[in-house]
Amino acid sequence: MSFRRCDETVAWTALQGHFEAHGRELDLREAFARDPGRFDAFGLEAPHWFADLSKNRWDIATRRLLLELARECGLEARRDAMLRGEPINSTEGRAVLHTALRAPAGQGLFSTEVQGVLTPLLAFAEEVRDTAASGITDVVNIGIGGSDLGPQMVVPALDAFVHPGLRLHFVSNVDGHDIEPVLRRLVPARTLFIVASKTFTTQETMANAQVARDWFLQQGGDDVARHFVATTTNVKAAAAFGIDRTFGFWDWVGGRYSLWSAIGLPIAIAIGENHFRDLLAGAHAMDRHFAEAPLEANLPAQLGLLDVWYRNFHGFGSRCVAPYHQGLKRLPAYLQQLEMESNGKCVDADGRPLPFATSPVVWGEPGTNGQHAFFQMLHQGTDVIPVEFILARRPTHGHADLQAKLMANGLAQAQALMLGKTADQALAEKAPTAAPGLDPQVLARHRSFPGNRPSTTLLTEQLTPAALGALIALYEHRVFTSGALWGINSFDQWGVELGKALAGDLLPRLASGDVAGLDASTAGLLKRLRGE
Ligand code: F6P
Repeated sequence: MSFRRCDETVAWTALQGHFEAHGRELDLREAFARDPGRFDAFGLEAPHWFADLSKNRWDIATRRLLLELARECGLEARRDAMLRGEPINSTEGRAVLHTALRAPAGQGLFSTEVQGVLTPLLAFAEEVRDTAASGITDVVNIGIGGSDLGPQMVVPALDAFVHPGLRLHFVSNVDGHDIEPVLRRLVPARTLFIVASKTFTTQETMANAQVARDWFLQQGGDDVARHFVATTTNVKAAAAFGIDRTFGFWDWVGGRYSLWSAIGLPIAIAIGENHFRDLLAGAHAMDRHFAEAPLEANLPAQLGLLDVWYRNFHGFGSRCVAPYHQGLKRLPAYLQQLEMESNGKCVDADGRPLPFATSPVVWGEPGTNGQHAFFQMLHQGTDVIPVEFILARRPTHGHADLQAKLMANGLAQAQALMLGKTADQALAEKAPTAAPGLDPQVLARHRSFPGNRPSTTLLTEQLTPAALGALIALYEHRVFTSGALWGINSFDQWGVELGKALAGDLLPRLASGDVAGLDASTAGLLKRLRGE
C-alpha cells in the first residue's frame, strides 16, 4: 500500500500559507474575544474523556486544512490497514495488533489465541489474589521498557482498586540500586517474581532475574517453579531459565503496546479480573472511536494533527504532560517510550531522510508539584511548550477539599498560560515581596507574563480502570496519527541497537582495561572507571 507523506500534499502547502497568514501570530485571547463559541467548537467527546482543544493556537481554518492533510495522507486507510492486521511494521515484517488484545471475546483478530492466554492469566491472577491460600504478599515484576513502564504506570494510577494485602514492586534497571532495596524487604515464601520480557534476551531483565533467583535460593527458597513466572513470546528461553509457568504473547504486540497482553499480569494481580477487563473495555471503546468517528469528531486523530501543526509549523520542540492526579505520576515516563520510541525517527518508512521534524520531547510531572518546579519556565521562559492538563472530576478518595484545590489549580494554570499578564497590569498591582526601591517599571517587566501559551485539557469523570484504558488507547492512536502523517514506521526501534552493541563491546574492556581502538574520551573514562 502506498501513501502520501505529509510534505508531498496540497494541504501541506496550504498549511504553510495559512501559518504565515494567520497561524504564527494567532492570539488566543483575541480568538476567544472574537468567537464566543470557541469552547464548543473545539470541545470533543470521546469514550470516558472530554477534551478542550480551544486553548490551542489554531482556528477553524487550521483544523479544516489539517483534516484535509489527514485525508490526503490516507490516515483512515493506514488506520484500517493496522486494524486489519496488515504488516505495517515494515522493517520487521510484522502486524501491529495491540487493538486485538482488548477486543471482546469472539471479536477481533486472533481472538482464540488472545482469549486462550487471557483466561488462564486472569485465573492465575485471582489465585495469587487469594492471599490466604497463595501465601503471596509481594509481587515483583522484573522487566524494562514496554515490559515495565505500562504496569508500573497503571498500578499506582489505579491504587484505589488494588488488593490491600498485596505489594507490587517493579525492578527494571541493570543497577543494583534498583533491585537491592526491593529484595531487602522480601520473604521468599511470600514472594512471586514475574520475569517480563517479550524477547527474554534483554540484558537488564536477564541479569536482574538471575540476581532474584540467586537471592531466592540463598534465602532458603526451595520452589522456583512456584515463585517465578514468565510473561514472554519466547517460551523456550523462559523454560531454559527454569520457569515452567509462562504466559505468552505474539510478535504482533509491540513492547510499548504490550500492557494489554500477558505483560499486564502485575496489573491483573493488583486490580483483579473484573477491573482488568474494565481496563481492556475502556481501551476497546477508544479503539472503536478511533476506527469509527469521522475525523471531524475523532479525538486521537485531532490530537495527532495538532501535534503535527505544533511540531512542523510552530516549531515547538516539546510537550509537557501535567496530570492533576498523583496516581498518574508515571504517565509522563510511560508516554516518553510510547511517543519517542515510536516517532523518534529521521527517515520515512521507505528509508528516505525526512526534511521535517518528528517526535517532540515529551515530559512532565503531576500537578500541583510541577507548579513549584518547572512551571516557571512554562509561564515566563523563552520557549513555548504546549501543556496537556489531565483532570479527573471525582477523586477515588474522600478529601473533597483537597480535590477542589487540585482542580482549581489545574484550571488556573491553563488560564494563566493563555491569559498572561501585561506589564501595565503588573504595574497596577502591589508586590509586597519585591525589593524596596526597585524601579516599578523594571519590576513590572519581571512580573509580566507573555501569555498566549497553548494547552489542552483532558477531563474524565473519575480515573477508573475503564477511563485509564481509554486514556492510554487515546495516546496510542494519537501517536499513530502523527507517525502516519510523517510517513514513518512508528513500530520499530532500531535506535536502541547501537548502544546495546557498544555496551557489549565495552563490558569485557572494563574487566581487561583494553582501550585499543576506542576514542580518547571513552578510553579516558573507562580508565577512570577502572580506578587507574
Ligand atoms: O528499549 C528497546 C526495547 O526493545 C523496547 O522496545 C522494549 O519495550 C524493551 O526493549 C524491552 O524488551 P523485552 O520486553 O524484549 O525485554
